[in-house]
Amino acid sequence: MKFTINGGKKLQGEVQLTGAKNAATKMMIASLLTEEPCILKNFPQIGDTEIVAELCQLIGAQLEYGDHELKIHTPVIKQTEVMSLSRRNRIPILAIGPLLARAGEAEVPILGGDKIGPRPVNLHVNALKALGAEITVTKDSYKAVAKDGLKGASIDLQFPSVGATENIILAAVLAKGETTVNNAAIEPEVIDLIKMLQNMGAVIDLGANRTIKITGVEKLKGVTHSIISDRNEAVSFACLAVATDGDILVKDARQNDLLTFLDALKKIGGGYEIVDEGIRFYKEKELSSIEIETGSHPKFMTDWQQPFTVLLTQAQGNSIIHETIYEDRFGYTNDLNQMGADIKTSSECLGGLDCRFNSKGFSHSITVHGPTPLKAINTQVRDLRSGMVNIISALIAEGTSLISGIEEIDRGYEKIDERLQGLGAEINRLR
Ligand code: EPU
Repeated sequence: MKFTINGGKKLQGEVQLTGAKNAATKMMIASLLTEEPCILKNFPQIGDTEIVAELCQLIGAQLEYGDHELKIHTPVIKQTEVMSLSRRNRIPILAIGPLLARAGEAEVPILGGDKIGPRPVNLHVNALKALGAEITVTKDSYKAVAKDGLKGASIDLQFPSVGATENIILAAVLAKGETTVNNAAIEPEVIDLIKMLQNMGAVIDLGANRTIKITGVEKLKGVTHSIISDRNEAVSFACLAVATDGDILVKDARQNDLLTFLDALKKIGGGYEIVDEGIRFYKEKELSSIEIETGSHPKFMTDWQQPFTVLLTQAQGNSIIHETIYEDRFGYTNDLNQMGADIKTSSECLGGLDCRFNSKGFSHSITVHGPTPLKAINTQVRDLRSGMVNIISALIAEGTSLISGIEEIDRGYEKIDERLQGLGAEINRLR
């Protein structure tokens, strides 16, 4: 499928955020820990939740959808091997803990997901081993066995990995004894998963300095949980408002989850107002340059640098972005340069402290020289977040852009074309 986009319109009006993709998918997996039904409210109907739905159904879950609501119920585990999934993302490895707890064995496919770096899962595998799972890595799968269940352990993560932290939590809640995770990820989506699990009966203590302690329990019960709003969507709409010189009220955007972004936006000339329904975004003055370094929460999130870079192409001066989470997340700058931007990539740690990619040859920093007018492009979406770059840049470019491979965007943004049309954008889906 493709989008055609005519640039030049100011986007104005209100838009409702959906529940966070990166919380919803993990919560579907968390529901597998109990034989009772779970209800997820504010549930996003996106490609990634469809992929996880297929995974859960193979395992034995019964799914009933309402309006932005999912009832998910797995009375019995029907299958522990889920190799026949028709589509892939990075979620199946998180199902190992629940499958081991309820059936003592699991086999899940090697992960898919965005092409933004090698994305190893060594931290997941080592943690599951520390909890007592025997793991065999084959050409296309991870096989895990723990016939007598998992046992609590102390795990030091060498990097505060979101996925590894979630994997440990999901595996430890029904393990015997206490598990401690040091250097854990504390992203809002991780905290929301912890909230859901607590309400299912899990014992989880979020301590200081990125320490999480989990005391295993015998059984978990069903829950009704309302998923936090998607902060990546919030940032995308904020950048759209400022880039098009428009004015958008992003309903349910939460200041708590966006502090670093709001600070950076203000510094370059964007404006925002916190109101009861969410956050209103607009352009306050001519945009100016900034230096940014992405990092683990509460730092500037790696998923925000792509839409923000589009803004920086319209800002006066030289901006720098140093990406410290993924090795290879600037592929989209080729598209922006083709449209007229002036962005140079560098393998040095520009602007900030040296990161773990220093001297490894990865193009993980950029300099953006602006402002540069953009012209329309015909392009193919590389991954989810760079797909949003394609949309925002096309909306401020002169002419009509054609964007192919938009299924990638549908993985993470619900009906994005209809919601943008509601804000006045000229965007059409070609099937
Ligand atoms: N890493 C390892 N070993 C591991 C796990 C991670 O070296 O075992 C490295 C990764 O290669 C990467 C870094 O640690 O360089 C961060 O990875 P992390 O595990 O934190 O990320 P993730 O769980 O795979 C989630 C989101 C990403 C988001 C990151 C960072 C989901 C499904 N994905 O990925 O979201 O960028 O956390 O916050 O939750 C997106 O939504 O577009 C997206 C990519």
